[in-house]
Formats: sequence, C-alpha cells, structure tokens
Amino acid sequence: MYDAAARERMREDVRSGLSRPQKEIPPVYFYDERGSELFEEITRQPEYYLTETERRLLRRHMPAWTREIGTRALVELGAGNADKTRVILDAMVESGTGELYVPVDVSADFLEATVARLAGEYPTLAVRAAVADMTRPVEIRVPLPEPAIFALLGSTLGNFEEHAAVELLSRVARKMRPGDRLLLGVDLRKEAARIQAAYNDAAGVTALFNRNVLRVMNRELGADFAPDSFVHHAFYDPTEGRIEMHLVSDRAQTVHVPGAGSFSFEKGETIRTEISAKYDRAGVEGLFSTADLSLSRWAEDEDGLYAIVLAISREPG
Ligand code: AVJ
Repeated sequence: MYDAAARERMREDVRSGLSRPQKEIPPVYFYDERGSELFEEITRQPEYYLTETERRLLRRHMPAWTREIGTRALVELGAGNADKTRVILDAMVESGTGELYVPVDVSADFLEATVARLAGEYPTLAVRAAVADMTRPVEIRVPLPEPAIFALLGSTLGNFEEHAAVELLSRVARKMRPGDRLLLGVDLRKEAARIQAAYNDAAGVTALFNRNVLRVMNRELGADFAPDSFVHHAFYDPTEGRIEMHLVSDRAQTVHVPGAGSFSFEKGETIRTEISAKYDRAGVEGLFSTADLSLSRWAEDEDGLYAIVLAISREPG
C-alpha cells in the first residue's frame, strides 16, 4: 500500500507536523483503503451535500461544456472512486471526441479498481492511471491529446492553505496548453450551520474517518496512538471561510512514533487533521489570477451551495 519511500515521507510529515505549536497531520493520510471507504460513506450522509450537488452540476453542464471544448482527454487529480468521473466520460464519449482518461490518485488500491472498472465500461477510451500525490509534481507518462480537461473536483482544493492552493493551481496552469481547461469543483460560503453539519454527521461517520488517520499512523509507522482517546471536533470559521477538523486528546498522554519522536499532549490539546476552505466567486477569481489562470465558466446550483468552474491558462504577464 505505502512503499518504503512513501512511508518515510509520512514519517517526516508527521514529525514536522506534530512538532508545531498547533499539532498537525496532513489530510492526505486519511485515504488508506478504509479511509477511502469511510469518505465514500460520508458522501452518502444526508448532511454532506457537496458530492451530490457537484454531481448534479456536472450532469447539467458537462455535455455542453465538453462539446464546446471538443475534449479529447481528461486528467483527474484525486480521482478517488471516479464516480463523478462517469458523468464527464459519458459527455466525452457522446461528443465523439473522447480518447483518453488519466486518473491520478494517492491510493494505488483504489486506482487499480477504478481503472479495471472504467476500462470495461468505456471500451472506446484509453485509461492510464498515475499513482501520485498531487501536492508534488505529477508526471503523466503518455502523450496527452489536446484539448484536455484537468479536473480537480470534490472541493479538494479546499484542503490546501491559500499559498499551497495557488501553488497547485499554478503547477496545473503550467501544464496547460492553449486549448486545455481546468475544471474545478468548489464548496461555497453559506450559513455556518449548514457547513458545520456536513462535517458533523449524526451517524458519526466523519468522526470515524477523522480518527482513522491515527490507525494509519499506527499501522504504517508503528506509532502507538490510542484512537479512542481522541475526539472528533470540526467547526466552521466564518472569518476565514473554512472548516477546521481536529482530534482532541481527552487526556494528558504521550505518543511515540518510531523514527519521528515522542509527542506529548495536554488534556484538550488537538491535532489539526484538515482544513476545508469555502469560496465565493471573487475568491476563486483571485486564486486564478495569482496562478495565471482565467475563469471562463462558472455554474452553481439554485441554492448557491456549490460551484463548478472552468478556467484557461493565460500567459504570465
Ligand atoms: C474530499 C477533501 C473534499 O473537505 O469536504 C469530508 C474531505 N473531510 N468530511 C472535504 C472530508 C471531512 C472532503 N474532501
């Protein structure tokens, strides 16, 4: 699952993350097989409006957008189980221009299953997976027909601090040729209670998902976290416009992570495991312009919950 190099990166990320005044573990480590399944389950919770709203928007707009673009290839960053991807692939097949699908994801297990399934379902498309952490340069090993869509869906961008979001968008922008598009899915700012509920589902799936990262650390790094001694806590910060997800230590304790160190917690001290930024149109346009992208389409649902956005790369000037 994680090879030796990936495990060493994880150890270093955890060492530096747990050494900060506000302890942190990067959200990329949520997604082992169990974590990916738990996230799937989150998307089926009634409070988590993001996934279903995005899917509806893609259904409504991708057929026309794909036709206008003449999309020949789809590169999907953070492909996950590729459920929403079908909507785009269907549009590519129907427009008669689709040739290639490149899912990029950190979870090799999930990718493998996705590739097998989609290759069967879409005999006219080539499928070439790339296992990669999108926070690092991603190399695509096949020639990419132009125009391609680079998709970053599911509100994944929100997991990045602003500077890292700009860096990620810039990296994509530099890969884009004149006809290519970025397709971005973003969660929108709205009433705090609505957002807060999405990260505190009544069934407690998000809490399991959050604590799962400690099980990953125990298994992959030989750490000795007691997952049940950490309590899920997620809150919306309306000033920052973002959710913060934490694990709160319910007692004073020390955790050992072989090769990384020992980390003590006071009772009530937290590990921040995720931020999930929420946007408005001006904010997205601001990020785009810093990343040398320019917005070409914006579509949101009737309740203003979520938006899908197209951008083109513009010459740095
Ligand atoms: C998959 C990163 C978009 O931030 O909403 C869901 C992950 N975290 N519930 C999000 C998540 C808690 C999700 N993303």
